[in-house]
Amino acid sequence: MTPTSSTQAVPAIFPVPRHIAMIMDGNGRWATQRFLPRVAGHVKGVEAVRGVVEACALRGVEFLTLFAFSSENWRRPVDEVSMLMRLFITALEREVAKMHANSIRLKVVGDLSRFDTNLQAMIAAAQRKTENNTRLTVTICANYGGRWDILQAVEKMLLANPGLVTPTEEQLAPHLALAYAPEPDLFIRTGGEERISNFLLWQLAYTELYFTDTYWPDFDAAALDLAIVSYQQRERRFGRTSEQLVEQKKAS
Ligand code: IPE
Ligand code: IPE
Ligand code: MG
Repeated sequence: MTPTSSTQAVPAIFPVPRHIAMIMDGNGRWATQRFLPRVAGHVKGVEAVRGVVEACALRGVEFLTLFAFSSENWRRPVDEVSMLMRLFITALEREVAKMHANSIRLKVVGDLSRFDTNLQAMIAAAQRKTENNTRLTVTICANYGGRWDILQAVEKMLLANPGLVTPTEEQLAPHLALAYAPEPDLFIRTGGEERISNFLLWQLAYTELYFTDTYWPDFDAAALDLAIVSYQQRERRFGRTSEQLVEQKKAS
């Protein structure tokens, strides 16, 4: 079943975000600041992922979605791209068994057809191995773009409903790459930039946005807690007034 759409119904809110989506940015600058090659930042970034996954599991977050490689990151120097691919493969080799032991489900979403067949096979195997795990779902967005996601969903929707002329959200949503997850409650971008960079364009409709200057390799459990505290102070109105929220609280 596709989870509730924030534009069709007001979703239930909990103090700990059910779904956190992150743009892990600033690896290159972290390295440059230390007179290291950019790749050193990416290596350190993988370590940060490990820490954040663990922290999310301990805090009861149900879905963690990480932007690892965007559809526009192919524009980077070839050496950096191939290094990132190698790192992805090593991380899968090293981490999947541990994730499985901790009951973590791994998903990889994006246009995977552009990856080499060995990596595609590893991804498929990792997803299969962990598919029944229930503690935390970690989604890695790889060769992902928000526009790609919407277009591929439209294509699948039209295939499923030939001749469709007036599509509804309900018809489109099940075909989006993250259809298995509720919409993100909290979005975090590290590295100081305040932009979405073609991440989850559809799914972030009512997500609370949080930006921090901390570079991704330095983002740890304490930094995550700061973001969660900021989230807890937000008033999520979903189009309603503040007064309506007060009334609703009184009534419950
Ligand atoms: C994020 O860090 C990692 C990827 C995009 C793969 P960057 O590599 O973008 O680091 P900066 O933004 O150059 O510091
Ligand atoms: C966004 O970071 C993509 C990932 C973190 C994977 P970028 O570093 O590619 O974003 P821009 O180019 O600064 O917008
Ligand atoms: Mg960047």
